[in-house]
Amino acid sequence: MALRTIREYGDDVLSRPCKEVKEVTPRIRELVQDMLDTMYDANGVGLAAPQVGILKRIVVIDISAEGDNPLIMINPRIIEKDGEQTGYEGCLSLPGKSGIVTRPNHVKARAFDLDMKEYEIEGEELLARAICHELDHLDGHMYVEMVEGDLVDNEELAKEQEK
Ligand code: NI
Repeated sequence: MALRTIREYGDDVLSRPCKEVKEVTPRIRELVQDMLDTMYDANGVGLAAPQVGILKRIVVIDISAEGDNPLIMINPRIIEKDGEQTGYEGCLSLPGKSGIVTRPNHVKARAFDLDMKEYEIEGEELLARAICHELDHLDGHMYVEMVEGDLVDNEELAKEQEK
């Protein structure tokens, strides 16, 4: 297991567009494994390659409670989106903070797996949100650009939600 350093908001690498992956080399496989290890270690539900300083179009997502259902997306793109959801969203590159973001409630995306086989995935609610959030990273965008109102501390948010 190898953990990579998660770049934080303000780091130039997070505002730059990423390049397409042409071939899954051993280095890319290692990167994907490290991204998964890093995401699980940080208790995240998604991580994009630029968040570990690599400007390639690669995203990993796992919204399962057990953390045993990783989704690996290479050169992903959204081909359909509809509906709307508004809710709190956070990012491993902005630890301890959340903000309200409106996203599509349903998305359909195409991506390549580690064998460079193209596949399609549909997601609703959290998965749709995660796909949108992570794909934005590949174009140098972060959710803070879309936040409605102020960012809040997660601790305060947790207290608020206990009430
Ligand atoms: Ni993020």
